[in-house]
Amino acid sequence: MNGARIALFPGSFDPVTNGHLDVIQRAVRLFDEVIVGVGHNQTKAPIFTVEERLAQLREACARLPSVRVAAFSGLLTEAVRGFGAVAVVRGLRAVSDFEYEFQMALMNRELEPQCETIFLMPRAEYSFLSSTMIREIARLGGDISPFVPEAVARALVERLRVP
Ligand code: PNS
Repeated sequence: MNGARIALFPGSFDPVTNGHLDVIQRAVRLFDEVIVGVGHNQTKAPIFTVEERLAQLREACARLPSVRVAAFSGLLTEAVRGFGAVAVVRGLRAVSDFEYEFQMALMNRELEPQCETIFLMPRAEYSFLSSTMIREIARLGGDISPFVPEAVARALVERLRVP
């Protein structure tokens, strides 16, 4: 789309949660195109490979035509430039998120003065959700189905099943 206002929503998405999807839906209303960027230069070993996370996100966003799911590596500011995004979108669940997000947003703007970050708040009922907690609950055999897309819940149970 010519002159389209593109936003980049970056994250690890290991796994994608209903909170992430809530933020994506909000971003869709504000931008012509939303690129969900799966960052893959993390040092910690993820539960799902980048390809699996891309597939899970594509399925979860299938009904949102203005959403594109893509992987990125290296600096976020480079990805912003590469995708032609006018803003980075990040979710803010609670005040506890703020310090890290504020630091990241300002550092990214220091690296690339054009790089603006927009914070969107997911619905209050998702404010306690995090991928880290989902992984832990799933590992310990708890029910994560209310918090993630159905296919992701199935894949998590399968992945963490003790043989
Ligand atoms: O879902 P997450 O784990 O909070 O996402 C973190 C992510 C991928 C957005 C962050 O780690 C990132 O931007 N990585 C790219 C490397 C980079 O640019 N680091 C400097 C940021 S100040």
